[in-house]
Amino acid sequence: MKITLSVIKADIGSIGGHLRPSRTLLEAVREHVEREKGSLVIDYRVSSTGDDIAILLSHRQGTGSSDIHKLAWDAFMAGTARAREEGLYGAGQDLLKESFSGNIKGLGPAVAEMEFEERENEPFICFCADKTNPGAFNLPLYLGFADPMHCSGLILSPKMSKGFIFVIMDVANTEKDRYIELNAPEELYDIAALLRDNERFVISKIYSRENGEQAVAASTTRLHNIAGKYTGKDDPVMLVRVQGSFPAAGEVLSPYSIGHYVAGFMRGSHNGPLMPVKAGSGTSFFDGPPIVTAVAYCVHNGRLSEGVDCFDHPYWDYVRRKVARKATELRQQGFSGAAMLPYTELEYGGIVEKMRRLESRFRD
Ligand code: F6R
Ligand code: MG
Ligand code: MG
Repeated sequence: MKITLSVIKADIGSIGGHLRPSRTLLEAVREHVEREKGSLVIDYRVSSTGDDIAILLSHRQGTGSSDIHKLAWDAFMAGTARAREEGLYGAGQDLLKESFSGNIKGLGPAVAEMEFEERENEPFICFCADKTNPGAFNLPLYLGFADPMHCSGLILSPKMSKGFIFVIMDVANTEKDRYIELNAPEELYDIAALLRDNERFVISKIYSRENGEQAVAASTTRLHNIAGKYTGKDDPVMLVRVQGSFPAAGEVLSPYSIGHYVAGFMRGSHNGPLMPVKAGSGTSFFDGPPIVTAVAYCVHNGRLSEGVDCFDHPYWDYVRRKVARKATELRQQGFSGAAMLPYTELEYGGIVEKMRRLESRFRD
């Protein structure tokens, strides 16, 4: 019987600015989802990454189920009421529409979902990132699924020698989903040519070419394309099935040792290195740095095992120190050049207003 995993994440309020939700807020969301355990949902976990709360659900309703999406929406609404009571900052920030209309996609929260036939052993990793956008997963997915420098299984495992299909979304197209399917390894250069542009092209799914099974589902929503103005960065989520005909957990995690520069950080308007952190970590330095959490589970008949916090290991302390150094280096040049995002990606309107005012003072 098929199982569906859904991870749905939103910023509905946090302490001290955009740093971390309160424990009581997490509890309010958890209490709401708990009511459906054993009926609509088989199992669930509620966690936080930076200022966002993620609900991971296992169920049999398939992807895009309005009942599942409504459950998450209602849980975030209940959480928002609690955040308002507590006076938390940005209460309900990511709930961009007044009411639920059948699908939570396009209403603000980030969503990644995957339906599949459970393998005998079904390990997967749930990734959540904060203070960045969906393109942040492009490079680690490329390296984890198409580069033997990180994924040794591409050379060593006969189950992976055919490679993977990358489904890449053009997120600039807001009318409808516009995507392309490209094959690794034959079309690696085309894949790289698109993934170079993290703001426009985003990996939404990856499939095994050995058996057609889906390995990855990632969120691709761009909040400022929904609201037409700054409403927070998109703070993506992603589900990755691992082992067997997919890369091993460690191969999928390996590229996060780079701390590659991503868009986001302070006011969603800067570049900064992506820091792998422990689940539940907040943000701090310059409202960042951009962070990613990864919790691994096994799912069996829809029941989730206890989670293993992948970045809670001494190795990642070394990576975090390196990434902190990279963040400090780039921050030293403040607003200049590569430190701040280009004009089109700035999330606040201040520069546009300034340019308008200065325009009349230019002389030929
Ligand atoms: C970035 C983020 C923060 C805020 C910043 C200003 O995604 O959430 O960096 O942009 O703290 O927040 P406001 O405009 O709410 O005062
Ligand atoms: Mg926020
Ligand atoms: Mg956030």
